[in-house]
Parts: sequence; structure tokens; C-alpha cells
Amino acid sequence: MTDTPASTRPATLLPDAQTVTEVKHWTDRLFSFRVTRPQSLRFRSGEFVMIGLMGENGRPLLRAYSIASPAWDDELEFYSIKVPDGPLTSKLQHIQPGDQIILRPKPVGTLVHDALLPGKRLWLLATGTGFAPFASLLREPETWEKYDQVVMMHTCREVAELAYGQELVAKLREDELIGELIGDKLFYYPTTTREDFSHMGRVTDNLTSGKVFRDLGLEEGLTAERDRAMICGSLAFNVDVKAILEAAGLREGANSDPGHFVVEKAFVGDGI
Ligand code: FAD
Ligand code: A2P
Repeated sequence: MTDTPASTRPATLLPDAQTVTEVKHWTDRLFSFRVTRPQSLRFRSGEFVMIGLMGENGRPLLRAYSIASPAWDDELEFYSIKVPDGPLTSKLQHIQPGDQIILRPKPVGTLVHDALLPGKRLWLLATGTGFAPFASLLREPETWEKYDQVVMMHTCREVAELAYGQELVAKLREDELIGELIGDKLFYYPTTTREDFSHMGRVTDNLTSGKVFRDLGLEEGLTAERDRAMICGSLAFNVDVKAILEAAGLREGANSDPGHFVVEKAFVGDGI
């Protein structure tokens, strides 16, 4: 497959075209970008859409992407992996401001407030790019209005992979409007598993050992009455976290049947 930069293709051929406004590379495997938002696009913070580029065969090459920006933002933000031989991301990683991407304006997803019953403490549990839907929900005022405590656990193999989340959380706390809403409700717990860092370990281990509760000074244990959770990571991660929540008596919810926790895959496949 050739590695044609997105900018060399004629923009006018793209259906549902949106213009790239900003691109930031975080590591050799991760980048984020912002695009214009179609005026008609309404979505709920936490949902995903199909985005992509025109393929070599003249047909759109689309993949599911969580919208990382909140529903109130004028633009749309995405946080992306770069899969070396990935049909889409081997090209998408070369986009630059002014380029166009395809965006199908049909948002869907289960990582939304509507799919959860009211609760007191919300757990946002992610690995890798599974942080993306939570980048939206952390910037969503409803998150802070609905819960007394929000615990953001994000685990990556290496420290550099945490940077997007770390910068976002730092900016959130500084933001005049959201910062005030957040107050002392945010408990951020980034960890690594394969490089030394201030906090280490898998989300699953830190939950079951009680370490995360002790480190953050949180009331220990998970209960169906108090705790709500949203999970977004690899299939193995989702399955393991789900088992922990179910063992604590929490029930999975959906848009049509709100529950105590919701799950979405951060990607399909085994990871790279
Ligand atoms: P693909 O052929 O799609 O993937 C090749 C292989 O790379 C996969 O089999 C898998 O092993 C691995 N892989 C793919 N995506 C990832 C990933 N994100 N992290 C680790 N390994 C991966 N990707 C994002 O980068 N950001 C998002 O916000 C995002 N949201 C998604 C939401 C949903 C509901 C789903 C189902 C997927 C989401 N993905 C997201 C994955 C995305 O759809 C593509 O798989 C990804 O962009 C790679 O596309 P590709 O064509 O280059 O490679
Ligand atoms: P680990 O390094 O111990 O495998 P990956 O890049 O493989 O998707 O993993 C991203 C992060 O998620 C890594 O820190 C990894 O830890 C962790 N992880 C992978 N699988 C699981 C799982 N089943 N439960 C909890 N954490 C997981």
C-alpha cells in the first residue's frame, strides 16, 4: 500500500468533507486532531462517529472514532492510534491543517450519561486510546452536575502515552468555567505497566487490591447504590473490568435500559 499524504488528494471529491484545523503528535504511535463541525451534527458527549479518507479505489475508507471533544464545542476533536500498516491510520497520521477528512454525521454509542442510572461516584476506566470518549465526558458539564466524585483511571504501557490525557486534565482544572464546576470532584489516576511512573499497575489490579482507593483517599469498595462506571479499552480489558463490576453487584446498562455501568470497545482486534 502506498503512503499518499492526505493533502495530495483533491478535497472536492470527498463526501461529508470536514476541514482539519489542528494536528498534534504525542508519540510515534499517537496523535490528536481537530476538524470543523458540520452545523447539523448533534451528538451526546461520549458517542462515536465514522470518519476516514478516500481510499485508493475511490471509495471512502471509514473507521469508528470516539468524538474526544464535548457536545458544546464548535469543532470536533479525535485522538488516534497510528497503526503502521493500518489501512486508514497509515494515511490519516499524515493529515495537516487545511486537509479534508470524511465524517459521517451519525453519532452512536453507549458511553453516555443517558445509559446510566443516577449515582454518586463515576468511574471512567480506560486503556490507550480508550481515553478518547472520556476526553469528551470530562469536558461535559453534565458529568460534574450529576456526580459528587469522578475517578478517571487511564493505563498505558509507557509514560509518554499518558501525555494527551495529562494535558487535558491539567487544562480542565485551569479552565475558568469547567474548573469551577469540577471543584474537588475529579480524581485522576494515570498509571503505566511497563515503565516506571509515580503510579503503576493495571486498572483491574489497582481496583481489586484496593490500591486506587487508598492512594486517592476514596471510600473503599464498589456498590450498586453508589458507583457507576464507563469502560473503554481492548476487549480483554473490557471483559476483565466488567467481571469485577459484576462481582460487586453492578449491572450493565444500555441506552434503552440504563444500568450501573456501560462498556465500549476502544478498537477491534488484539492491539499492536
Ligand atoms: P485497522 O485495520 O482498523 O486495525 C488494525 C489493527 O490495529 C487492529 O486489528 C488492532 O489490533 C489495532 N488497533 C486498531 N485501533 C487501535 C487502537 N485505537 N488502539 C490500539 N490498537 C488498535 N481508534 C482510535 O485511534 N481512536 C478512537 O477514538 C477510536 N474509537 C473507536 C470506537 C469504536 C466504537 C471502535 C469499534 C473502534 C475505535 N477505534 C478508535 C479504532 C478505529 O476504528 C480503527 O481501528 C483505527 O483507527 C485503526 O484503523 P486502521 O484502518 O489503520 O487499522
Ligand atoms: P500490561 O502492560 O500489563 O499488558 P495494550 O497496549 O496491550 O492494549 O495495553 C494497554 C494497557 O492496558 C497496558 O498497560 C496493559 O497492561 C493494560 N491491559 C491489557 N490487557 C489488560 C487486561 N485484560 N486487564 C487490565 N489491563 C490490561
